Amino acid sequence: MTIRQEEQRDYEEVYQLVKKAFETAEESDGTEQDLVTALRNSESFVPELSLVAVEDGKIIGQILFSKIMIGGREELALAPLSVHPKWQKKGIGLALMAKGHEAAGKLGYDYTVVLDHAEYYPKAGYVPARRYGIKSPFDVPDENFMAVRLNDKAENLNGVVQYDKAFGI
Ligand SMILES: CC(C)(COP(=O)(O)OP(=O)(O)OC[C@H]1O[C@@H](n2cnc3c(N)ncnc32)[C@H](O)[C@@H]1OP(=O)(O)O)[C@@H](O)C(=O)NCCC(=O)NCCS
Repeated sequence: MTIRQEEQRDYEEVYQLVKKAFETAEESDGTEQDLVTALRNSESFVPELSLVAVEDGKIIGQILFSKIMIGGREELALAPLSVHPKWQKKGIGLALMAKGHEAAGKLGYDYTVVLDHAEYYPKAGYVPARRYGIKSPFDVPDENFMAVRLNDKAENLNGVVQYDKAFGI
């Protein structure tokens, strides 16, 4: 399995993969594949932070980080993360996050936030975002609104996350 930046020729395959991954997901509104398209077409898109996992020429996972604002600073949100059902629980989600966090840090971002799956994301280093002074724009239990600090030297923030309008929040 290799991980590389997503390219334009991957878009249709990624659309089908995201749809498939969320078909059997516990939490899904069935439109995550459209969110990927909307984010790609938004100003929040960072091409270097849309990654695909490839095995035998097939895309089996995808991760997307897009820009958000936190109290006047540009940071990132992770959403969505998709692994093909046949390939789940083999470490691919964690590998995509590790690569994504590394790339995001190199681009100079200090934080990335994620919502829900409070059992899963801590495995990739996510902790309640409030610990870093990052607040959610909607009501959510602290443990469900998480962040990773990408740069050890980053200072705590003090602000509410503002998502791209593609999220419909
Ligand atoms: C959630 C998802 C991305 C996880 O990807 P994955 O490649 O299967 O996860 P990994 O293999 O990297 O998981 C590593 C560890 O997390 C655990 N884990 C996987 N999915 C989990 C979940 N939903 N809840 C809790 N733990 C989970 C694995 O058991 C494994 O634990 P271990 O290291 O103790 O054995 C994948 O299942 C998926 O695409 N689901 C459907 C879409 C979705 O819900 N995406 C997330 C919301 S954006």
